[in-house]
Amino acid sequence: MTTEELERLLAQQPIALLHRLARGRVHRHFRAGKRRLIELLLHHSATNRAGFESDLMALIGERQQRPPAAPRERHAPRPAAPAHAPRPPTHPHHEGESHEASVLLNDWLSGIGVPPPQPFVPDEWQLDALEKLQTGDVVVSVPTGSGKTYVAVEAAKRAIEENRTVIYTSPLKALSNTKFTEFSRIFGQERVGILTGDRRDNSQAPLLIMTTEILRNLLYDAAGGEIDLRLDTLGLVIMDESQYLADPERGVVWEETIIFCPSQARLLLLSASIGNPHDIADWLTSIRSVPAHLIKHTKRTVPLRAGYLHPDGKLTPLFRTIGIPHGHPGYLHPEAKRLFTRYEDETSSPRSRR
Ligand SMILES: Nc1ncnc2c1ncn2[C@@H]1O[C@H](COP(=O)(O)OP(=O)(O)OP(=O)(O)O)[C@@H](O)[C@H]1O
Ligand SMILES: [Mg+2]
Repeated sequence: MTTEELERLLAQQPIALLHRLARGRVHRHFRAGKRRLIELLLHHSATNRAGFESDLMALIGERQQRPPAAPRERHAPRPAAPAHAPRPPTHPHHEGESHEASVLLNDWLSGIGVPPPQPFVPDEWQLDALEKLQTGDVVVSVPTGSGKTYVAVEAAKRAIEENRTVIYTSPLKALSNTKFTEFSRIFGQERVGILTGDRRDNSQAPLLIMTTEILRNLLYDAAGGEIDLRLDTLGLVIMDESQYLADPERGVVWEETIIFCPSQARLLLLSASIGNPHDIADWLTSIRSVPAHLIKHTKRTVPLRAGYLHPDGKLTPLFRTIGIPHGHPGYLHPEAKRLFTRYEDETSSPRSRR
């Protein structure tokens, strides 16, 4: 929208809406009259026009969705119902539709970024996982971003100190490359190697990073009698993103890798939250020579926020709240609804429907 259109739209809004829009944007906005407030808002919008327009449309959408106020009583008020009697609803309420205020884009974005540095204190579950690894295999099932890498690194350090080889597997070449860089920084380049379909570097290092398929093939070769020296000294196999066990196509690779994994090596399975980690731990216990311990929690250290990015670059919260509600379409943000509808209109032209 052009600046003139925006100005016109702002002028059509009640001042209460303009004040809500000005919150967090215009210092002491409550002191300004309508005309001055519009000037200040327009000035502010120059720095983030898309976000500003998105918040404005959200507020307008919310206002339009609000049920009309009940007409004033012209005749004598009816006697009030006794306090204990259930009151009739004051307006028709669509099932699941919430009339709570929707979060503004500015508030939804607030707090995202790099947190201030703090001393590192391992979480209880991280210490627990490391301790349990002393007596058996470990299955970790915790939400994304919880700090599974810390467990992998500490466990690898301990195994390397005991002169054991460590293999870290990931499902993706890209993730293997990232971990190679990350672990080279932590352990020193000479102690980290990588084996993927595309890359073979420092393959005699004590800490080897590979895709799960490569490890499965190494274990196949070992099973066929071609024992690889690294497998002789293998002390720890870390399988990151092990929820791939459930993948209909690739899951079999994880399964075979676990079955062929030498008994002297500890297995550390790291996964994002999965529904049945007990089953996996029970299965491991049934096929391996040591018990498998389960470390599980579902608390998100990094809360999720959901947004919608329209192809034209407009960003809006997806729901009315900052966090993700457990789902009813009624909780969708009015601006997200508006952008969806616009997207549908734009993409369902007779030509694109053909
Ligand atoms: N105990 C802790 N206290 C604070 N921050 C931590 C802690 N443990 C790990 N972190 C930090 O949390 C972030 C996420 O960690 P990490 O990448 O290991 O998560 P993850 O569980 O492997 O997530 P994903 O499922 O995405 O692979 C990192 O920046 C890491 O430094
Ligand atoms: Mg991870």
